[in-house]
Amino acid sequence: EREVACQKDLSGKKILITAGPTIEAIDPVRFISNHSTGKMGYAIAKAAYLRGAEVTIVTGKTDTKNPPFAKVIEIKSAKEMFEAVKDCYGDQDAIIKAAAVADYRPKTAGTEKTKKTDGDMSIELERTDDILLWLGKHRKDGQFLCGFSMETQNMLENSRKKLDKKNIDMIVANNLKMAGAGFGTDTNIVTIITREKEQELEMMTKDEVAHRLLDEIFIR
Ligand code: CTP
Ligand code: CA
Repeated sequence: EREVACQKDLSGKKILITAGPTIEAIDPVRFISNHSTGKMGYAIAKAAYLRGAEVTIVTGKTDTKNPPFAKVIEIKSAKEMFEAVKDCYGDQDAIIKAAAVADYRPKTAGTEKTKKTDGDMSIELERTDDILLWLGKHRKDGQFLCGFSMETQNMLENSRKKLDKKNIDMIVANNLKMAGAGFGTDTNIVTIITREKEQELEMMTKDEVAHRLLDEIFIR
């Protein structure tokens, strides 16, 4: 079991991990969000810590207990995640964006609860900042950027496009249509995509996926 026999091969490394969903307020009682539970991000944080890294987590609201070993910054919205990441990204050796960031938020979030009327209603949405795209433009020398990609179709092609567009080093793709992969599960089935190669891993626990990703990032 890797947990008890970990080599401290990442000691001296600083790793920033984003995890969980963001929440975009519609009004004081309602929000738009997604099914991310933070499990994959927290698994990476734990694996990195066990291997001696200094870990910072920027996390949306999850049911997972905050690990005592990491610096944990809790955020709600995509905007708050962006601010938190900008504050601490500078001296990180690797940034791993496992968070499921909302792409849109309500243009105006009322301060009062919206009352229903007899008719239908619609909510105007605006784009959030793409945090990973920003990191790809502002990365420091030697900094390694890793994203995650959730797709239900054309997984490889769409994920590779994200790798290029965001100017990152690696993207971890998972197909939401596979059993044993995706939201809330303890296992995952991922394909690691870099500029040079594509590597599909068999189904394994998120803890094991975490170690494989760290191997790929730091032991090349
Ligand atoms: N991401 C981000 N900021 C956003 C949206 C996404 O940093 N506003 C990051 C995610 O954390 C993830 C990667 O970009 O690491 C890919 O996210 P994904 O939702 O799969 O792709 P998008 O680029 O948002 O494209 P789409 O949702 O249309 O597939
Ligand atoms: Ca998205």
